Amino acid sequence: MSNTSHKQIEREVERRRTFAIISHPDAGKTTLTEKLLLYGGAIHLAGSVKSRRAAKHAVSDWMELEKQRGISVTSSVLQFPYRDHAINLLDTPGHADFSEDTYRTLAAADSAVMLMDVAKGVEAQTLKLFKVCAMRKIPIFTFVNKMDRFGRKPLELMEEIEDILGIRSCPINWPIGMGNEFKGVYDRLNEELILFDSAGRHGEAKVEEKTMALDDPQAEKILGPRRYEQLLEDVELLDIAGDPFDLERVHAGDLTPMFFGSAVTNFGVRPFLDAFVDMAPSPKQARNIKVEPTKEDFSGFIFKIQANMNPEHRDRMAFVRITSGIFEKDMQAKLLRTERQIKLAYPQQMMASDREMADKAFAGDIIGLYDPGRFRIGDTLYSGDPVEETEIPRFSPEHFAVVEIGDPLRRKQLVKGLEQLSEEGTIQVFRQPTKGTLDLVVGAVGILQFEVLKFRLEQEYNVRVSLRPMDFQHARWIDGDFDQAALNRLDFLKVLEDRDELPLLLIRNNWALNYTRQNYPDMELLPNPPGTPGLEQLHEKTHGF
Ligand code: G4P
Repeated sequence: MSNTSHKQIEREVERRRTFAIISHPDAGKTTLTEKLLLYGGAIHLAGSVKSRRAAKHAVSDWMELEKQRGISVTSSVLQFPYRDHAINLLDTPGHADFSEDTYRTLAAADSAVMLMDVAKGVEAQTLKLFKVCAMRKIPIFTFVNKMDRFGRKPLELMEEIEDILGIRSCPINWPIGMGNEFKGVYDRLNEELILFDSAGRHGEAKVEEKTMALDDPQAEKILGPRRYEQLLEDVELLDIAGDPFDLERVHAGDLTPMFFGSAVTNFGVRPFLDAFVDMAPSPKQARNIKVEPTKEDFSGFIFKIQANMNPEHRDRMAFVRITSGIFEKDMQAKLLRTERQIKLAYPQQMMASDREMADKAFAGDIIGLYDPGRFRIGDTLYSGDPVEETEIPRFSPEHFAVVEIGDPLRRKQLVKGLEQLSEEGTIQVFRQPTKGTLDLVVGAVGILQFEVLKFRLEQEYNVRVSLRPMDFQHARWIDGDFDQAALNRLDFLKVLEDRDELPLLLIRNNWALNYTRQNYPDMELLPNPPGTPGLEQLHEKTHGF
């Protein structure tokens, strides 16, 4: 063990905040991320984070972005300091198709910031991501953005959050005005007004703030009698009718602290960030990871694998969320799945647009390890005593297609590409056992993943394929005895095997699923391979919003 003392580990873990921003496209996630970096001192003038706007809306644009892997990876994890905290901001994919990737990223976060556009409130993607967080009981902080424009009334948004998301909110600050009239916020915990001064700048630099007590005679003068009266009324109403602030409830995911601001002008960003680092759980307080984070032995789990980030040389990077102890460059750790000892060489920690060697990292941090193809998503690494596996539930695929290759001579590359992309979690690959390896079937949670698969096979493996859709909606792993030939005779069922040669059944529709359950009671049908937790239920709930 290193010369880092237990006290130091405790201190390092305590000051970490690891979170993700969840939002609907266009709510301002990129802008807010940039402003958080500005306030963290990681960048000095806003405007340097490249606009990804154009890349987000169409499938092809998004894939173009993925092709320029450099952008996507450097924005996967941002680490920056703020006050005496070390912040890890995980990026969730910005495209509209809900994918497993997003879910896995949230598995590595200890809290989430739900960003919404004041004019739009809770949108489809916000709801889906919220449900994933709620399921994991991740504390959620709400930032209502674009207050420099006219939008919905703050009280109305609070109601909407309760009605649609089923969570109570507690405004930590309250907006003063809206649109051009957005002057500042009232900080309810410190009972003071924070007034912003835009003095001719456009959010490139930090905003000037003036604070004063609510009953300061200056306040009414500055705000004007009408706005001042309105504020007093709102504050009183919130105090009487609103939920009191309760950190326990926030950490349990039952109450969302709410903030108002404008990422573009920086109004409200600093008050939000200050309150967030005070309130958000450190890895020690996080409830979703079972390993004791301050124990000295290192452990972590892989929540994301990304291949071919650098087109110059074929490489893969496995992103590890550290769950306990200290990570040190070149240390040895065991891979729980195989019990093999591995040297964790060439780690990368992401910081803004630079990649840096991570010499030391602590529970809560994310490190990227070069992966010569030995890791899988969900893998656990540990040193010292074995730890419990961190479960990253998988979604059951709902779209299936037979892979047809244009040039049979490229089959070897195809198999390699499919294998690597399935380890990354882009798709799942199945085979028809009776036909040898000839028929390869791919399954995905979102249909967009098929487009991504085709594009990446062509770009990265130089293999052109067409995907022939199969008319099945469900996949269920089979536990128990079954008669393959008899099942295959029914045209609404098809027996396949997964990459570990475990049998699974493709099932045409809900009717066929019920039929199979009733007629083959000895055969257990599981939404995921035996032994892995599934998310069938969540997916059914979030699908088709
Ligand atoms: P996203 O990552 O969530 O998809 O959103 P992004 O930050 O790219 O912002 C989407 C659009 O909303 C951008 O405008 C951005 O400037 C704008 N925006 C973000 N925050 C605010 C805010 O607080 N107030 C206002 N008024 N606008 C905001 P755009 O016109 O689409 O792009 P751009 O030309 O401004 O970059």
